[in-house]
Amino acid sequence: MPDPTPETTDSETTGTVSTGTVTDASPIVAEPIRPGVPKVDPILIADGVVRHFGGNVAVDVAHVEVPRGKITALIGPNGAGKTTFFNLLTGFDKPNSGAWTFQGHSLAGVPPHKVARRGMVRTFQLTKSLGLLSVLENMRLGATKQLGERFIPSLMPFLWSAQEKAITEKAMELLARFKLDAKADDYAASLSGGQRKLLEMARALMSDPTLVMLDEPMAGVNPALTQSLLGHILNLKREGMTVLFVEHDMHMVQTIADWVIVMAEGKVVAEGYPREVMGDPAVIDAYLGAHHDTDLGTLTGQLAVAEEVGVSGDLIEQIEGEIEAEPNLAAEPANESAVELEEEEAPGGASVDEPEEGEK
Ligand SMILES: Nc1ncnc2c1ncn2[C@@H]1O[C@H](COP(=O)(O)OP(=O)(O)OP(=O)(O)O)[C@@H](O)[C@H]1O
Ligand SMILES: [Mg+2]
Repeated sequence: MPDPTPETTDSETTGTVSTGTVTDASPIVAEPIRPGVPKVDPILIADGVVRHFGGNVAVDVAHVEVPRGKITALIGPNGAGKTTFFNLLTGFDKPNSGAWTFQGHSLAGVPPHKVARRGMVRTFQLTKSLGLLSVLENMRLGATKQLGERFIPSLMPFLWSAQEKAITEKAMELLARFKLDAKADDYAASLSGGQRKLLEMARALMSDPTLVMLDEPMAGVNPALTQSLLGHILNLKREGMTVLFVEHDMHMVQTIADWVIVMAEGKVVAEGYPREVMGDPAVIDAYLGAHHDTDLGTLTGQLAVAEEVGVSGDLIEQIEGEIEAEPNLAAEPANESAVELEEEEAPGGASVDEPEEGEK
């Protein structure tokens, strides 16, 4: 299993980037790394969460903790139970048994809209945007605590209309950030698969979440837009949010994750820093298959993505500072694989998306 005190080199051990309540320099664990290892500052803690479908045990998580203010990747083979676990944690499905807390408060039995109000939002493996509503209307649905939906405040239209205006302004700001503002009045159905993924992420941010859970945000998205999605996910962390995302592409995981949790057959079978987890032959052989061997380097990968997306100069300087502060990393080769990928598969930087896989 991975060494509990990795000599790497990613943002866990260097840098002074402030991300809300924690910094990138803050350690994730203080104990030997093992499945279920306690986190120094967990935001989400799950215990004994079990979900059967008939005789099939889809989820059987004994104990897992998600670190606050970090980007955690949840990986594992098809059918490992990742989506089902997301569904359970966010109230879209009910477990046979188990308990979990978010920010110290139990969420078991709490319905999805209340989970969102408490600051935990998720996106879906297959996008759930409502095609016959406009992009802006989809965004407005993401706002929680809408006064106009409640009886007493709805009798006071001045309150209601002020809030409507604020919600619309916020939606337009977010759409601009995701480069969807020009499409605000278009039907969501007219968006490409990748744009719908962006819309889902933007909509999730309407509720000012603390924890953002993304189920395969990159699936079916063309490589040019993938870089943009990665940049947006990095930005969530920089703004102080915690991210938990499911992803099959190990390059993506290496590029942006601070921590990796591996699920197989419903259980958490491994976790650790990306380099250690992806370098563990037992994990690779059993669960990840062949596409694991290119180490992009977390920080160098982040830099490439940040520059690509054109995030603020401050952020790029912060990442560069982190790389300089770490001599081993500064010597690493640049993130060539990601660039190659883009050049090969997206000639001319076209932003047309590949068709999405079938609904699930
Ligand atoms: N509603 C359901 N009814 C019956 N079985 C289900 C249901 N949802 C999921 N399962 C089963 O539970 C197991 C876990 O599925 P899940 O979709 O959570 O896996 P996953 O890790 O998200 O896989 P993928 O990487 O393919 O998205 C699978 O065996 C799946 O067939
Ligand atoms: Mg899934």
